[in-house]
Amino acid sequence: MAHLTLGIETSCDETAAAVLEDGRRIRSSVVASQDLLHAPYGGIVPELASRRHVEAIWPVVREALTVAGVSLAELNGIAATSGPGLIGSLLVGLCFGKALAFARHIPLVGVNHLEGHLYAALLDHEELSFPFTGLVASGGHTHLYLAMAPGEYRLLGRTRDDAAGEAFDKVAKFLGLGYPGGPLIEEWARKGDPNAVRFPRSVPPRGSYDFSFSGLKTAVVNFVKRSTFNVQRSDSGSRQPSAFSFQPALDPALVADICAGFQEAVVDVLVRVSLTAAKESASQRLILAGGVACNGRLRSKLTERAMEEGVHVYYPKPSLCTDNAAMIAAAGYPRMLRGERVPLSLNADADLALGVM
Ligand code: KG4
Ligand code: ZN
Repeated sequence: MAHLTLGIETSCDETAAAVLEDGRRIRSSVVASQDLLHAPYGGIVPELASRRHVEAIWPVVREALTVAGVSLAELNGIAATSGPGLIGSLLVGLCFGKALAFARHIPLVGVNHLEGHLYAALLDHEELSFPFTGLVASGGHTHLYLAMAPGEYRLLGRTRDDAAGEAFDKVAKFLGLGYPGGPLIEEWARKGDPNAVRFPRSVPPRGSYDFSFSGLKTAVVNFVKRSTFNVQRSDSGSRQPSAFSFQPALDPALVADICAGFQEAVVDVLVRVSLTAAKESASQRLILAGGVACNGRLRSKLTERAMEEGVHVYYPKPSLCTDNAAMIAAAGYPRMLRGERVPLSLNADADLALGVM
């Protein structure tokens, strides 16, 4: 008989549920995005996010069951994200999972969201196995792991300031492009020249795999302010640039070049650091996960450079890169098989860590 796991994910701004068969086969994966809700604010508003999760959680779980053709009574276990993330958001999915597990007398495991992202690659590539190096680059994280075995992770490096996706979102907000910034910047960048504006790359010293993106973000802001200042001076003779008057003054061709230059800088750093880590770690396998892993330029540059370096790269498909519950069910499944259960007293942890440094 097949083992059916219900995955639940509400750590950030996506309400997601999925049914997974035997830890590998996705029977359903439903994601209700809150992008439109948060777009006017240019970023996630935590209180709005948790309220929307409350409204969406049961319809999303019900749809996941319907699409999978599975009844509540047929579920063998539940895996729910317990951290890290926004505490109010996490609590909605975890409490829902606890209630269902209690009502149905089935096991529940709490899953680390970052471990879920690593499992997304395993879900999509049957031939992939441990050990591997994994980069999780999303709106909340830029973490590089050595995944030795299920449940055994070493944190090789992480961002010291902004996450890669956060940098995309902040630069897009600054340029007035919208939210979420990653896909919008990628679209603009396609029309621009990545070499027209060269932004600084922050590369860690030898032996470190840490990232930093806040300097790059500041460089974009300073470049835009300088460009606008020049435009305004030639337009009106004013010597005082106003902080938010630059957008109408910016030529769309320049916006495209800025996006291309910025994207190239982020991609350059992610490729360099993760390939070095993969080469220096025990395995020559590198997996990419998290929303930023959807980026086409990142995929093409990494594929090209990895081939030269003899590293094999695995990408989950875009719907498994961004937040989803199939990856959470996949990470919870082996633990459930080992007999692991969590008590109903399990609490959500906004800062839940994965792996030792
Ligand atoms: O993994 P995810 O859905 O949620 C978090 O756990 O944060 O990642 C969302 C992040 C956002 O910052 C978004 O701008 C970024 O991933 N992102 C991208 C792309 N698509 C999504 N960044 C760059 N290029 C993309 N195509
Ligand atoms: Zn995520």
